[in-house]
Amino acid sequence: MILDNLRNTSLRALDALENILGKRPAFVEADIRDRDAVARTLRAYNVGSVVHFAGLKAVGESVEMPFEYYDNNIR
Ligand SMILES: NC(=O)c1ccc[n+]([C@@H]2O[C@H](COP(=O)([O-])OP(=O)(O)OC[C@H]3O[C@@H](n4cnc5c(N)ncnc54)[C@H](O)[C@@H]3O)[C@@H](O)[C@H]2O)c1
Repeated sequence: MILDNLRNTSLRALDALENILGKRPAFVEADIRDRDAVARTLRAYNVGSVVHFAGLKAVGESVEMPFEYYDNNIR
């Protein structure tokens, strides 16, 4: 299953994954900083392991909004 806040993607990515995988992955729109939503999702899908790619990575934007990047990527 995939959890993403859709900040830098769209639901169309799920269409592409469905084409590749042959089935549509479960999706939850949530922010990883929302502890309750993450905990609810881990329980609901009985998640045993996590691959964490939810980060912001645009160099210019990170200079314009360093605190947002710190909050998202570090906190
Ligand atoms: N693409 C590369 O070649 C590469 C190489 C090495 C490391 N990385 C690192 O891997 C991570 C992901 O890179 P990517 O290329 O897949 O980036 P990406 O922007 O394509 O994907 C990141 C996803 O995380 C989501 N996201 C961001 N903040 C979130 C939050 N707070 N809660 C929920 N979802 C959130 C975005 O909406 C996006 O869909 C970054 O940390 C990047 O620095 C990427």
